[in-house]
Amino acid sequence: MWNNGAMKNHSERPTTDSPPCPRRSLDSWDVLEALAREVQDFSIKDAFAGDSRRFKKFHAEACGILLDFSKQTVTPDIVTQLIRLAQDCDLAGWRARMFGGDAINESEERAVLHTALRAPEGVPVMTGGRDVAAQIHETLGRMKAFSRTIRAEGRFRHIVNIGIGGSDLGPHMANEALKPFTAREIDIHYVSNVDAAHLGEALRVCDPQATLFIVTSKTFTTQETMTNAQSAKAWLQDNLKREDVREHFVAVTQNIAKAEAFGVSGGRIFPMWDWVGGRYSLWSAVGLPLCLSLGFAHFRAMLDGAHAMDRHFAEAPLEENLPVLLALTGVWNRTFLGHSVLALLPYSQLLHKFPAFVQQLDMESNGKSVDREGRRVSYPTGPIVFGEPGTNGQHAFYQLLHQGTTIVPCEFIAVGQSEYDFEGHQSKLLSNVIGQSKALMDGQADSDPQKRFEGNRPSTTLAIKRLDPFTLGALIALYEHKIFTQGVIWNLNSFDQWGVELGKAIAGQVLKHLEPGGAPGRLSSDESDSSTLGLIEALRDAP
Ligand code: F6P
Repeated sequence: MWNNGAMKNHSERPTTDSPPCPRRSLDSWDVLEALAREVQDFSIKDAFAGDSRRFKKFHAEACGILLDFSKQTVTPDIVTQLIRLAQDCDLAGWRARMFGGDAINESEERAVLHTALRAPEGVPVMTGGRDVAAQIHETLGRMKAFSRTIRAEGRFRHIVNIGIGGSDLGPHMANEALKPFTAREIDIHYVSNVDAAHLGEALRVCDPQATLFIVTSKTFTTQETMTNAQSAKAWLQDNLKREDVREHFVAVTQNIAKAEAFGVSGGRIFPMWDWVGGRYSLWSAVGLPLCLSLGFAHFRAMLDGAHAMDRHFAEAPLEENLPVLLALTGVWNRTFLGHSVLALLPYSQLLHKFPAFVQQLDMESNGKSVDREGRRVSYPTGPIVFGEPGTNGQHAFYQLLHQGTTIVPCEFIAVGQSEYDFEGHQSKLLSNVIGQSKALMDGQADSDPQKRFEGNRPSTTLAIKRLDPFTLGALIALYEHKIFTQGVIWNLNSFDQWGVELGKAIAGQVLKHLEPGGAPGRLSSDESDSSTLGLIEALRDAP
């Protein structure tokens, strides 16, 4: 527990000269710290035994998603205080500022308007005194027309999206999740890693004549993406025996000049905007590969599902608000009970990329130790997020979830209906997801300590009837708003990512010594540590 001896990590300690932390001086914060001490002996299993209405009290439903948080270490009083905390932190005000186009990404002086991308036509979207709704709908219109033409022509049978991070994970995850809705005659690949193996393996099965590359990069300067794009261009030029291969390229970017300089024609450049962050950009032209693979109508249904969740988040009372409840139980576990990890466990093979997508969304947004005002925070913020689909994970890391020394709160995702007809699979899958949350909670007594399960391990389950484009859109928006809500409570700017810059800069310095012709030993021990020098020596010019 955070305030009961769990401050193990030096980086999480407030410094002695820190100014008083405004969050910790909130009355609701104080009360929650006291409640966290009281629940030391709380048994989730006993709470069910003592209250037949516990599930009724601790579940909510919206947009085709049921959220069951009754297996968390919560009481009605704790939930009331968590909601008070959200109010004290002005969640309603921050939410209004986000939807209203204010520059809430202060360090980059940008608005945060991914929600506007899924709003229906006719709704004005104001930011910086301008209505940007027309650009959004014009771009959607272009995406619709372009994807219809490409699908109707049938010339391009292979689509390769080149992008990384937010320019890869969102569309890639959604493409996998909605595979049953895709046009099977289009073979789609997502290439992100600068490791040549990624591009190389994708291109092995592509016919150059029939391959369309989408280069997706907000900045059009990202090392991995530009390296892959250049190699893709060279591959086409070599195989097609001509210089001009521009008809095989489309770009999605904010940096029009760089895309044109690369060789993409103006009409084939789709815009990105500074008021949409990379990891929130799936709803923009970054979703173009989805339009090609799924068809525009399915993409629109995804936008509609996300918009329905936006409305729910904006309008539902906090006590019934899915993103808020999911966020608050997360804050309770992370900040007040001191659980540092979150396992995200979709029981759907189609959602196999969902944990990686949410990992970026969560850890790049809230993996921060400085608040909006630049002060070091004195409480734990974003958790370590990892996950794998069930049942696979059960045969890998669940041992630790059940009997390890670290308590790992879990978020299960269960999907009622399968899109595939093999008999008996779905009931087995569902029995496992429901059984796991019960096993984690119940535990098991045994005279043999090796076989004993302590139980009382908290989990939340999201139950959805069918994984269709609408529900997937709602599910993604649920996580976006969960992470936003947590950022508000932790007083973080969830929309910048300065922490990724240093590694990129140092990799740039090291690169000079690894590229062909790089001078061995030019990085002297005055400039670097012996490990860095030793690794460069060991790896450069590897046979
Ligand atoms: O390195 C982090 C990051 O900036 C992400 O936030 C972003 O999604 C990704 O790189 C890709 O950036 P870009 O779209 O500019 O290529």
